[in-house]
Amino acid sequence: MERKLNKIGVLTSGGDAPGMNAAIRAVVRTANYNNIEIYGIRRGYQGLIDDDIFLMDNQSVANIIQRGGTILKTARCKEFYTSEGRKKAHDTLVAHGINGLVIIGGNGSFAGAVNLSNEFPDIQCVGIAGTIDKDISGTDYTVGFDTAVNTAVSAIDKIRDTMEAHDRIFVIEVMGRNAGYIALHSGISTGASDILLPEQKTDIDEVINRLKEKERRKKLVNLVVVAEGDDFGGGEKVIKKLKEDMPNSDIKLTVLGHIQRGGAPSSLDRVIASRMGYHAVESLQLNRGNVFVGILNNRMNYMPLDNAIKIKSDIDQEWIDIVHILAS
Ligand code: F6P
Repeated sequence: MERKLNKIGVLTSGGDAPGMNAAIRAVVRTANYNNIEIYGIRRGYQGLIDDDIFLMDNQSVANIIQRGGTILKTARCKEFYTSEGRKKAHDTLVAHGINGLVIIGGNGSFAGAVNLSNEFPDIQCVGIAGTIDKDISGTDYTVGFDTAVNTAVSAIDKIRDTMEAHDRIFVIEVMGRNAGYIALHSGISTGASDILLPEQKTDIDEVINRLKEKERRKKLVNLVVVAEGDDFGGGEKVIKKLKEDMPNSDIKLTVLGHIQRGGAPSSLDRVIASRMGYHAVESLQLNRGNVFVGILNNRMNYMPLDNAIKIKSDIDQEWIDIVHILAS
């Protein structure tokens, strides 16, 4: 039987990412263009549980495409992990007559959507890959990643100036609890001598040997980029070990932290957010639920929501080889 799409809800969930506003704008304007009522849900799944929902029109998303953060606010909602929480969320959706939901977030947020639609098949969910970590397989891009990397790169470039002036070694910790893409991209972009990732076994003695060798050669850039969830235990542990083994070197740690999550989205993030937002609504209109919208080889790609959760993406060893060869 043909299922009629009545009303759509949109929420942002998990860590915010620059470009989420551009995605909200695209969802709202595409829905309105197609005469579908669109409701904003505040603070992610928490807003569904608390019935914190409002009707949106084109004006409600004016002047936000260039803004970081999310006008809908976001949260990591513990209650939604429980079936009681999801039941409350479903009651809210039913009370508003909403039967399509767009979730802008990462794989944790997608896992919530999978549970919701398994328990309540009357609700179709479509995800938009939005996370600075880019830890979702089935898409070459996630909304926010490009901006976060560029923020990290411009910060590291500045650190390089002072590093070189003082002949120091710098350990820079970037975000990425379970994924090393920000570290990999920002490290390659700034000529790091080593990049430490959650996906790879860290041989700290090798890292130290490489740094010592570079010091002997009086190499100007001695930069180690560490993902916060790297296999050795993050920036603090790395610098502690480096200081123990290289007592005569001047070594500093900078943790870039949440600066990577804020700021105006890059052009690339605005473009992919706009494309994904448009296609998320189109997908619901075509009755294609329980997928997330990604981009593969510059084409829109629809993957089952739970694939984003099940498949763990790997870092290609070639990228690591490139780091060491180019920094030698
Ligand atoms: O959104 C992803 C992320 O930024 C991770 O890289 C980081 O580990 C985590 O979120 C930090 O989250 P919180 O908002 O709880 O500080």
